[in-house]
Amino acid sequence: MRIAVLVSGNGSNLQALLEAQARGELAPGQIALVVSNRPGAFALERAAGFGVPALTVDHKAYPTREAFEDAVLAALDEHRVEAIVLAGFMRILTARFTDRYPLRILNTHPSLLPAFPGAHAPADALAHGAKVTGVTVHFVDATLDGGPIIAQRAIAIEDSDDATSLHRRIQRLEHQLLPEVVAQLARGRLLCEGRVVRMVSRSAE
Ligand code: GRF
Repeated sequence: MRIAVLVSGNGSNLQALLEAQARGELAPGQIALVVSNRPGAFALERAAGFGVPALTVDHKAYPTREAFEDAVLAALDEHRVEAIVLAGFMRILTARFTDRYPLRILNTHPSLLPAFPGAHAPADALAHGAKVTGVTVHFVDATLDGGPIIAQRAIAIEDSDDATSLHRRIQRLEHQLLPEVVAQLARGRLLCEGRVVRMVSRSAE
């Protein structure tokens, strides 16, 4: 399964995926392309370090969201991409885009959804006084962080946490969980009925 990773910035989740791939853990998944909407994103350097094709589609260069998405879709088609991982990709995708890849787009989000969607999840969890938070990997539809949940891992929020330390600890979890889920997707082990996703084990196949 040829997979594109869409990024906007640092790319530590991309790094975790590339390292998992190098260990043979994503097979039959293969990261075929990295796309950044931000020129100069560090994630692009990480891709280059692993010899993975990487390109920038700068959303600011397009007059509309649709025109930007068309440019991304064209790049995905050119690289024969079959599935997409959003890894710190900070643009909302329209239904026009997500309908092209039904149950083939994953996102990682730093909270236990449906709590704390949006761009500031660790800070929002702290401000709310939550005692537990974590990471969610979910399918992407056109709603904000609202698609069917695939997997979650929880951590306790410490009194000493600030948004930075909390996000750092959440990221350690997501760097493990995201490659695991990508491998399950590539192996056809994710079964979605309505909103409920189950992982089909090898013995149940
Ligand atoms: C991650 O914490 C992810 O959950 C959120 O954005 C962050 C991206 O980090 N959507 P990185 O670019 O992968 O380092």
